[in-house]
Amino acid sequence: MKRTFLLLSLIAVLIGQATFGAVTPVSNQPDSVYLFSYATAKNSNTNGLHFAWSTNLENWTSIGPEMRFLFCDYGRWGVEKRMITPYLFRAPDGMWHCVWSLNEHTGTFAHAASKDLIYWQPQTYPIVAKDKNCLEPEISRNPDGKYTISWISTANGSKKAFCVLTSDFKNYTPAKEKSLTERLNQRKNVIISGNTETGTVHKVAWELVESLLNKQKLNASRDQQGSENAKTDSVRFASLKTLDATITVDNSKTKKISDMLVGVFFEDINYAADGGLYAELLQNRDFEYALSDKEGRDKTWNSNKGWHLNGVGSTFSIDSVSPIHPNNPHYAVLKTTEVGSGLVNEGFDGIAVKSGEKYDFTAFVRNPDKKSRKLLIRLIGKNGENYGETTVSTSSSGWKKYQASLIAQQTATDAQLEIVPQTAGTVHLDVISLFPQNTFKGHKNGLRADLAQTIADIHPRFMRFPGGCVSHGDGLGNIYRWKNTVGSLESRKPQKNLWGYHQTAGLGYFEYFQFCEDVGAAPLPVIAAGVPCQNSATGGAGQQGGIPMCDMDNYVQDVLDLIEWANGDVKTKWGKIRAEGGHPQPFNLKYVGIGNEDLINAVFEERFTMIYKAVKEKHPEITVIGTVGPSFEGTDYVEGWKIATKLGVPMVDEHYYQSPGWFINNQDFYDKYDRTKPKVYLGEYASWGSTIYNALAEALYLTACERNGDVVSMTSYAPMLAREGHTQWNPDLIYFNNTEVKPTVNYSVQQLYGQNSGDTYLASDVKLSDKNESVGKRVSASVVRDSKSNDLIVKLVNMLPVAVKANVILNGVDAIRLQATRTVLTGLPAGKNARPVTDQIAVSGEFPYRMPPYSFTVIRINPEKRPAEPKSGLLKK
Ligand code: AHR
Repeated sequence: MKRTFLLLSLIAVLIGQATFGAVTPVSNQPDSVYLFSYATAKNSNTNGLHFAWSTNLENWTSIGPEMRFLFCDYGRWGVEKRMITPYLFRAPDGMWHCVWSLNEHTGTFAHAASKDLIYWQPQTYPIVAKDKNCLEPEISRNPDGKYTISWISTANGSKKAFCVLTSDFKNYTPAKEKSLTERLNQRKNVIISGNTETGTVHKVAWELVESLLNKQKLNASRDQQGSENAKTDSVRFASLKTLDATITVDNSKTKKISDMLVGVFFEDINYAADGGLYAELLQNRDFEYALSDKEGRDKTWNSNKGWHLNGVGSTFSIDSVSPIHPNNPHYAVLKTTEVGSGLVNEGFDGIAVKSGEKYDFTAFVRNPDKKSRKLLIRLIGKNGENYGETTVSTSSSGWKKYQASLIAQQTATDAQLEIVPQTAGTVHLDVISLFPQNTFKGHKNGLRADLAQTIADIHPRFMRFPGGCVSHGDGLGNIYRWKNTVGSLESRKPQKNLWGYHQTAGLGYFEYFQFCEDVGAAPLPVIAAGVPCQNSATGGAGQQGGIPMCDMDNYVQDVLDLIEWANGDVKTKWGKIRAEGGHPQPFNLKYVGIGNEDLINAVFEERFTMIYKAVKEKHPEITVIGTVGPSFEGTDYVEGWKIATKLGVPMVDEHYYQSPGWFINNQDFYDKYDRTKPKVYLGEYASWGSTIYNALAEALYLTACERNGDVVSMTSYAPMLAREGHTQWNPDLIYFNNTEVKPTVNYSVQQLYGQNSGDTYLASDVKLSDKNESVGKRVSASVVRDSKSNDLIVKLVNMLPVAVKANVILNGVDAIRLQATRTVLTGLPAGKNARPVTDQIAVSGEFPYRMPPYSFTVIRINPEKRPAEPKSGLLKK
């Protein structure tokens, strides 16, 4: 009976399906279509992998148009990152493999694999031919299950085919020549939007194309959100009138948040160190500038840079025979036949001096002609004005350091330093230096007081250094090695700065740590993870090299030595060296960053793991910060997080430079983060501009970081410093020239957060009279308590073009008639010059507050202070 019933039911279902199609939904979509994968020659082939689909191999519809599903990450920006003739292949296990040619000359092809054509595993660039190029690579599967990758080489004018075998796309046999006729040549030409494109065609399930289309739609809507700006605001919010809001703070719902949330990012980019924070006034003081600093592009960028002769009867050349120190091989040879002419240093765009201020001159001098020689040291103006002078008597025929100080007789911005030997003959000079005595905290070899103070005014809880990309350098030889930057100045090892200039290392690890101590910031050195910058040019594609494993033990030891140098007792080897440098007390290092937005691949993982494990084992007290790539998504982000989670790394460093629209629309980014996984250091972020609109987008986003302060432990805007006329990166937080410091409005936001940080977060809720989501995203509140002062700090951001009349309710807070300090940053969205304005207001358990259009307000409520009389209008009766 039961069987008969089941049978009848089955028949009924089948009839139903056939007749009415009721069980499976009717679909007019094809089961399968053709998928064409290709790259165009646009932007020198840097647009990546595109897809188009067709049902009949004739009419093709591009997905995008030309959306980039895979981007080549090989080598340097601008000249590399090219994807030429991609070849897509589907393995029997369903995995997609894409190989492509990188350029016209390198014997390397690129490979990446993906399950779904959307998420791509880390790219590899196997070097298969050292002296030949590698064009039109293609993949085929052999009967034994291995894969052949063949390519064409046109080296030496002859066209030949070569191939390698692999079973895993990780290990390859040596390249062998192969007959050109054995190549598959399966690339097809297809016309898309009137253009003939070359690529590969596969028959795929419609669902795959649908998922690509969905991804494209998602990206398009994200781009749409990202493009929100002040101009589109005026249309989007054209009909908006003043809004009402209720902001309810609940003191019974609190959580502990990081008290390290706002710090600073220091990188020697934009002349941030030499010619910037480092107070040295002379440029190329050690004659170590080299053509290679700028890869030969600037013929004037050599040992002579910044120096010239004044007067007649003298010559100036560079020599390197028996230098002061091997790390400092070049020095100046000044020959004079007549007394009166001298060697002049032009400073960094001139030297700014202040009347009455003292300047310390030092130099290493050697008199090879064995004569004693007085040197006249003068600050001169462009037209020969004498701004101040002193003399130094030198007598040594071997290198000896001499010093003198001088007082500027007038204030000038065009000074130059002239050294005039008072006895004719030959004198050797090196590491010639001029410092103002007025450095930050008066340190010798110190920092520019005004710039340092501007940084200190943020109240940064930590400072990251020396980068950024400077940490991992352009190629292996350029990795920042901390040991080269401590000790006497003449023994430090200057090197090319990857941003295209020179770093003396005068501002080195000792000075960084000392500055951190001076401003109460935790030092956060970032060490290369044994790999150079993924955008390196030096050494081919740079990043796939990595420090050879045979040298890694020494490298790991350098990292351990750093911790000993910073924290070790004076009796330890490195603690002693720190003490000799002038700091017997430990520097109290707590954090070490390993890696900077590296390409996360096997080379990285092996080296990172080695360093991480060594530090963890020897120094469990140190919080290691790992790295998860240069973006909030993508392969490096995903793979970086995987490694950090697997190893249990305490914190990872995230980077993203995005539009204001991105920050506005992604305030929930950390709401979804798993609290059991590594904590986050948002080590580099900025919103592409220096206007109020940008600053407020950052302020808005920081309210979300405070809300997620249990997972976001630290943040730092990047980059921080930029010398006007010498920027490689914009925007920056603080611009400067020789006499002025020009903090941006973004700086004000950092400062307001830095000066008003807390360690307990109080839940708050914003209810707006307008329920539109795009309006709601523009108003945000964050309330924290600072346990040191016991102050309650209310931060309110209004990124709308209209005012928001808020009623602020402090539930559970004893805030009857309290005094508060209110600071408001507001201005026209395109404005760049607004400054925060502070006044005192009285608040209560419930008080009205009008948030001006485009504004950021901080209300700091001191529970101890009650004003004598409530000010009318501010207290709710
Ligand atoms: O902040 C400028 C640069 O941006 C950093 O050096 C690098 O880490 C990032 O790409």
